[in-house]
Amino acid sequence: MDFTLNENQTMFRDMVRDFARQEIAPIAQQMDEENGMPADLVEKMKEGGFFGIAFPEQYGGLGADTITYGLVVEELAKVSAGVCVMLTVHNSVGSYPVAMFGSEEIKQEFLPRMAAGEIAAFCVTEPGAGSDAASITTTARRDGDEYILNGNKIFVTNGQRAAFFVVIARTPGTTGHKDTHAFIVPRGTPGLIVGKKEDKMGLRASDTAVIDFEDARVPAVQLLGNEGDGFKIAMAALDGGRIGIAFQSLGIGEACLEEAVKYANMREQFGKPLMRQPVIGGMIADMGTELEAARLLALQAAWLKDQGKPYSKQAAMAKLMCSEAAWRAADKAVQIHGGYGYCKEYPVERYYRDVRVTRIYEGTSEIQRLVIARHLGREF
Ligand code: CAA
Repeated sequence: MDFTLNENQTMFRDMVRDFARQEIAPIAQQMDEENGMPADLVEKMKEGGFFGIAFPEQYGGLGADTITYGLVVEELAKVSAGVCVMLTVHNSVGSYPVAMFGSEEIKQEFLPRMAAGEIAAFCVTEPGAGSDAASITTTARRDGDEYILNGNKIFVTNGQRAAFFVVIARTPGTTGHKDTHAFIVPRGTPGLIVGKKEDKMGLRASDTAVIDFEDARVPAVQLLGNEGDGFKIAMAALDGGRIGIAFQSLGIGEACLEEAVKYANMREQFGKPLMRQPVIGGMIADMGTELEAARLLALQAAWLKDQGKPYSKQAAMAKLMCSEAAWRAADKAVQIHGGYGYCKEYPVERYYRDVRVTRIYEGTSEIQRLVIARHLGREF
């Protein structure tokens, strides 16, 4: 078994690492405090092709494989998990449904614009439909050559910045997953209303918004896949999205490890550096070991996707393992910093807040376990 990254993968990773250190790291804390992201950073990322990383080259993207994409996500998350999630949602659940299920005409119309930096978002969650995604109530009523959308979507990452929204809605009067449909809806569509931005615990550089639909008319050609495919398109998109969140979690966890090691080498108590005290060294060893094990799962899931093999179970395993390992790493990093870890002067305080949502969004840890258990239940 060969664990070596190829030349292209290391080149992408190193390029993004340099960019992240030069352009993002110096303002990461400021973005967290100001609860936003400067427009010029987004412009620089557009110029760098970040918004088209995972897009096919024929539609203006860089055509990176999933492993490369994961490495890029990891590097971004090491410096700013908020900037990172803007990119992962755009490159996965916000655009994948168009790339995989859009007609050729729709792909040509939307993908090059997305790859150039017109940001994409994904609208599935509703006030009454979180983990139970099939219970959405947003409706799509067919009216001639159009569908009319009505309903409320919440927790929409990129909601305030997005130019395009993938929306999952259902035929009025139906329940369950079978009568759900997926659409691509551009911002500016009358009746698509961008609502309030959430005041979040972490990922404060990113925006998370409410999106309402009030008689929003969407041309029928903007249906993705066939009528009735909505839920399955959302699930397929989330399979890929979960690989991205796995790598995002790893990035945060590794940043915690790095800060913990630096601090433990520098800080002396009882006459020697914390790093040379077995109780602290043991915590750091656990952090490193768990993150390394989690990384192998994330790489395996990405590899399976690149090979065109089924990866739903491994994506759920990777997301579960990486987010939980990163959360434990963040907790230990704060613990090792002691009182300083509880203050904003040290970045572990931000990492600790940022990492929390990785066990919640794109499917909670409990939902990942449910998905994994269902797969395993069919295997033996
Ligand atoms: N790919 C394709 N099809 C799939 C699938 C997948 N990964 N998973 C399930 N399906 C299909 C099933 O085969 C089934 O099809 P048939 O009827 O033809 O047999 C159908 O979909 C229904 O499947 P289930 O019976 O498994 O559906 P369920 O109602 O029991 O729900 C669930 C399954 C796993 C719990 C699902 O609801 C789920 O993943 N919930 C979590 C939702 C989630 O992750 N939300 C996050 C939203 S995005 C976000 O966080 C914000 C952001 O912007 C980052």
